[in-house]
Amino acid sequence: MSSPAASSVLRVALLGGGTVGAAVARRLLQHADRYADQLGRRPELTGVAVRDTTRARDGIPPALLTTDAAALVGDPATDVVVEVMGGLEPAGSLVETALRRGAQVVTANKQLVARRGEELHAIAREHGAGLHYEAAVMAAVPVLAVVRESMAGDEITALRGIVNGSTNYVLDLVAREGVPFADAVRQAGELGYLEADPTEDLEGVDAAAKVAILARTAWGTSVPLDAVETQGISGLTDADFAAAAGRGEVLKLVAEARRGGDGRVHARVAPTALPATDPLAQARGGTNVVEIDAVLAGTVRLVGAGAGGDETASAVLGDVVRAARPR
Ligand code: NAP
Ligand code: HSE
Repeated sequence: MSSPAASSVLRVALLGGGTVGAAVARRLLQHADRYADQLGRRPELTGVAVRDTTRARDGIPPALLTTDAAALVGDPATDVVVEVMGGLEPAGSLVETALRRGAQVVTANKQLVARRGEELHAIAREHGAGLHYEAAVMAAVPVLAVVRESMAGDEITALRGIVNGSTNYVLDLVAREGVPFADAVRQAGELGYLEADPTEDLEGVDAAAKVAILARTAWGTSVPLDAVETQGISGLTDADFAAAAGRGEVLKLVAEARRGGDGRVHARVAPTALPATDPLAQARGGTNVVEIDAVLAGTVRLVGAGAGGDETASAVLGDVVRAARPR
């Protein structure tokens, strides 16, 4: 990465121009002056990699669109590569290439980070690069920074939360408004909350990746995805919703992790009936909540938007700013 003294421009390449990528591009382009004041370097979007360059994207000049993601990543002048295309490939190879040439990489890709995070961190260290992924867990809620930095002097004992926005939106709509499950899923998709493969949300795989990343960040222990007990919400029936409501409870997709006395991390994701007074039960729509239990702090609770283009762009751009700071 070129030093701030050597360049007054911060060259940013964007891999993906969908829900999150378009929001990031719009903000970078429309608020370049603000970032220039903040960073001392003016951000310049070098290109936006997509599959279909003929489709208009709100706020992205067509001239910036390209299908050649590899060229964007390989350009030695690019300072920061933002990966918001999702999926394991080609995203994984592109991220690896960027790290191997010493670039700063920002990604929102929780499956990639959960499955290859340690390997990618090692590559980043070896090549003097940087890997940042606050947006991968709980979108706008800065939980990784809190766990990694703000609570680093404490001892975290357990984590419990709602870490998937789309399923929370679906459960909320079904329970509170009686919307049929399939209609609620469709609406979550229209809001940009669902993964490209919605079964990742509905079967708990997205939440499992997030809790694995959270646990690794909290305890420094590798948590393979297949070690996370995972159950999604697709099997819930009208009778389950009615039974929970009859008991004054609320169905939520709860993710939790705890470190046992043997040092091993136990993590699970499962639909859970919670008392209506539980702070997790009160999360509406795409809201995420996490409770972090620690020896000194007691319980720290973070709440905010867990999905959505602008909301996720907040975390992505926070990482871009962090990546651009001199180190
Ligand atoms: P999306 O709307 O499906 O956008 C994906 C973008 O990547 C599209 O522009 C697509 O191009 C492009 N793309 C996909 N494969 C490509 C390839 N092989 N070559 C070039 N371009 C490719 O997805 P999203 O919702 O923005 O999510 C992106 C990432 O952010 C995912 O990892 C997701 O898990 C994560 N995330 C999403 C949210 C959210 O609320 N949406 C929140 C947090 C994290 P086309 O447009 O031409 O198809
Ligand atoms: N599909 C994800 C969710 C997007 O619903 O939480 C945010 O990571």
